[in-house]
Amino acid sequence: MTSAAATPNGTGPLGPIRRLDEVDSTNRYALDAARAGEASGLVVVADHQSAGRGRLGRTWEAPAGASLLMSILLRPTIRLEAVHLLTMAAGLAMADAVEAVAGFAPTIKWPNDLLVGDRKLAGMLTEAEVTDGEVTAVVVGIGVNVQWTDFPPEIAQTATACNLVVGHDVSRDALLDAFVARYGSRLADLDAVPEDYRARLGTLGRRVRIELASESFEGEAVGVSDDGSLEVRTDDGPRIVTAGDVIHLRPA
Ligand code: BTN
Repeated sequence: MTSAAATPNGTGPLGPIRRLDEVDSTNRYALDAARAGEASGLVVVADHQSAGRGRLGRTWEAPAGASLLMSILLRPTIRLEAVHLLTMAAGLAMADAVEAVAGFAPTIKWPNDLLVGDRKLAGMLTEAEVTDGEVTAVVVGIGVNVQWTDFPPEIAQTATACNLVVGHDVSRDALLDAFVARYGSRLADLDAVPEDYRARLGTLGRRVRIELASESFEGEAVGVSDDGSLEVRTDDGPRIVTAGDVIHLRPA
């Protein structure tokens, strides 16, 4: 359940796992735990969130028991610009865990969605505590659709879940254990993450639409730098994207 030794980047072993029936948000819980002095490695898992947080200020909703909803508190000795590596590592660890437990291999959509085909299986939201320019805590939050029967109409055409992909029940606990083991290993070798991430990234080589707060544009996704930025080739030249939404477009 835990990796045995402290990692070179200071994140240390993962655990304990704290299980909650109900919480507003596991990310909020883990961030408050960090502020209260909780050590690196805490894994918070909830059956249900009443105010789950998504990227870009969105909400994340799932009925009780349908998803693996978790947040991992880390206290890495890394620069703020490198925090994205922890999320990329989590994406890889979860993709590998899904493959091991459910038997299919999700791809990654930039920056950190897990997809099956064009349907979303999982999303990630990382939040950092920074004091005097130093990262004091990072919370990596992950929501994986594991065991759904019916999606609400808003996401019925765009979401999927492990049980729907494989046609039988998939255990959230087995997925949690598989993830924790793999994430511990990934954290111990962050240097290997960018290359492995690029290999799993379904966005590369695709025609994409980038939606930013102020504009949107289209082009071809041609690369991801080691700092996690996406390079898009547009008719007006290359654009570097550090945040925003990516829509995978059908080939023209
Ligand atoms: C996204 O918008 O795709 C990211 C969604 C992240 C949701 C997870 S569920 C567990 C954790 N706690 C939260 O409040 N959010 C993350």
